[in-house]
Amino acid sequence: MKLFNTKILGTGSYLPDRIVTNDDLSKRIDTSHQWIVERTGIHQRRVADLSKGESPSGMAKEAALKAIEAANLTVNDIDMILLSATMPDQAMPNTAAVLQEKLGITNNCPTLDVNAACSGWIYLVPMADAMIKTGLYKNILVIGSEMLSSFNNWDDRNTCILFGDACGAAVLGRAGEKEDSRIYSSVLTCDSTKKDHLTLMAGGACKRTTHEILNNNEQWMTMNGQQIFKAAVTTMAAHAEKVAKEAELAMEDIDWFIPHQANLRIIEAVGTRFNIPHEKVIINVDKYANTSSASVPVALDEAIRSGKIKRGDNLLMAAFGAGLTAGAICLKY
Ligand code: UT7
Repeated sequence: MKLFNTKILGTGSYLPDRIVTNDDLSKRIDTSHQWIVERTGIHQRRVADLSKGESPSGMAKEAALKAIEAANLTVNDIDMILLSATMPDQAMPNTAAVLQEKLGITNNCPTLDVNAACSGWIYLVPMADAMIKTGLYKNILVIGSEMLSSFNNWDDRNTCILFGDACGAAVLGRAGEKEDSRIYSSVLTCDSTKKDHLTLMAGGACKRTTHEILNNNEQWMTMNGQQIFKAAVTTMAAHAEKVAKEAELAMEDIDWFIPHQANLRIIEAVGTRFNIPHEKVIINVDKYANTSSASVPVALDEAIRSGKIKRGDNLLMAAFGAGLTAGAICLKY
């Protein structure tokens, strides 16, 4: 059977207009710009506005159009949509189906939502790679679109300072016969013994949103920050090392490390563990905070558009999130 190599054909991203600074938050909760910067590296975050169409599917439309244009394709060249959203537009139809309509795709391509929290986009890339490799699909739109502000309790200083809204998109397709682009290696895991450290239990089938839930303020996410922090550092570093080794690349062969943008201290601790120089790490957590599964594709898109990442570069990407899900990918761009 003929196998194809997978290439990132184009990327795009969308950030809502509205900026919420740390000082804005300190007017509402007992926190300060200094505390947030020292503990997280975050200066500000973006917050979506539904009245401006900034829903998960609405943000995804804008990011996807840029990715499709960068790939030199038209919307009907997309033959599958894979979309990660921790909180979708609604339970059904899936957000990817809504996106298909918003993009004006008329070829009836399959659409699928996935929830692996912050690891969602990283989870989807190896899946898209497998389908492209075998020829099952040709051009797959892989999206992370996140509206965390919809379940972020703005009165809980333990969580609300950390998150922002955004969307990142990539079109994955076949590399040409003479091109080097390929996905070398990937690893995906979930350690469910840590699943209770980051949860939103209300709103699903087991705990419907009732008046009682709302009266008890249970409609928001809850987090054990320190446990997540520790697990994030060890898991991301181990996964990054594993995929680099499987790709037979030494650390000096990696041109760019694109980690999940959760906390600058986590990013620095991971970088130190597997010895990647600071200059090779893509960071935007200061501007956008943690945008869950949008964080890696947004950082990737910005680094490509700014000219940092060039064709032929070796990229290493890693993420972790509720579950605890985690994953890493090593590829030639
Ligand atoms: O994609 C996955 C999403 N989740 C994460 O990535 C979270 C990972 N964890 C973290 O990023 C960090 O654990 C946090 C930033 C959440 C917290 O930082 P920390 O250094 O672990 O602080 P801490 O929880 O140990 O809290 C230290 C102190 C506490 O006060 P006391 O008990 O020492 O008096 C907290 O009550 O800081 C207090 N505190 C705050 N103070 C000002 C907690 N949140 C705040 C706040 N502003 N926003």
